[in-house]
Amino acid sequence: MKIEPFAVEQWMNAWETKCDLNLAETCVASLTLAELMQMAGTTQQMPSDLAAMHMTYGEIRGSTRLRGLVAGMFADQSAENVLITHGTIGANHMVYQTLVGTGDHVVAITPTYQQHTAIPRSLGAEVTEIALSADQGWMPDWDAVAKVVTPATKIIALTNPNNPTGALIEREGLKKVAQIAREVGAWVLCDEVYRGTEQGDPAPSIVDIYEKGISTGSTSKAFSLAGLRLGWIVGPHELLDACEVHRDYTTISVGMVDDYFAAMALEAKDAVLGRSRHITRGNLAVLTDWVAGEAKASFVPPRAGTTAFVALDVAMSSYDQCVALLKDTGVMFTPGSALGVEGYVRIGFACAPEVLKEGLGRVSLWLANQPATG
Ligand SMILES: Cc1ncc(COP(=O)(O)O)c(C=O)c1O
Repeated sequence: MKIEPFAVEQWMNAWETKCDLNLAETCVASLTLAELMQMAGTTQQMPSDLAAMHMTYGEIRGSTRLRGLVAGMFADQSAENVLITHGTIGANHMVYQTLVGTGDHVVAITPTYQQHTAIPRSLGAEVTEIALSADQGWMPDWDAVAKVVTPATKIIALTNPNNPTGALIEREGLKKVAQIAREVGAWVLCDEVYRGTEQGDPAPSIVDIYEKGISTGSTSKAFSLAGLRLGWIVGPHELLDACEVHRDYTTISVGMVDDYFAAMALEAKDAVLGRSRHITRGNLAVLTDWVAGEAKASFVPPRAGTTAFVALDVAMSSYDQCVALLKDTGVMFTPGSALGVEGYVRIGFACAPEVLKEGLGRVSLWLANQPATG
């Protein structure tokens, strides 16, 4: 299977170990296992149930305990509707492998995580991209989506909350996309990896709105535990049975230790997500003040997520802006071009607050010396 290079991952691989201040990261500042265990009220250094665990494959679909906890984050789902995967990246891949082939059509709302365009294309599907625009607050134009779906459309793919813009589609929007999909029998795959990072009330999940809705997610972003590499697919159990046929060839089971700590995090979700909310809300206020006071920066304020798409009025491509910033200031952003959109940089704002403040301060000094586009 041939596939195009993953531009954001290549950018990260090239620079993230070389920068001073990483404002390209999309996870809420990561937790140590000691911090997680403290939040979960575990007093033993090595919990006895973990020490006693036999290192075999574990339950194949993921532990019943973990699947029940994942289901509990949705309004109307049970453990039967949950399949544990190797991150959201594994979940998305498995859904496309299961549902899409040559001759199929996929509609992807972009910008998005590149998996949602590159994988279906590599599987032989035709992909129609519906572009978000800042003028519309980065919200999808549902009429445009309705115009491009056909009976060949297998999946309409959204990332909600959106990476990179931080836009949030709420219940009414999800109902609209469900209605459009229902008319042609398509699935709606909603990459919900940023669920739990909303600035206000959380939006519902597509799986609680549409009978052919699929939610993918993980412990990476709002749970600050990307190192577990632990994700899930939530959807109708017939879909999960079909996914399992593929999963048997690629995964067998996820790691038992990862499953164990993920369950611990979900049991302590009030504390873990409370910490994340504190970071994302406090830091977005810092970023918003910075943009307001910076004549050469503008954005549509995110309503959720961990990233903002910011336009910098500097006479260079987004890639050149980001490389110059790295070399001159040590601050790492992500170029919009790596997400298929020129004219913006993506700023990850969910890092430690002092990193964000120091980084933005350095960027201001740099911007003061750059000629504007005029
Ligand atoms: C929209 C989106 N989906 C999926 C992923 C992959 O996440 P995970 O760590 O759960 O595999 C990312 C990571 O940045 C992402 O932004």
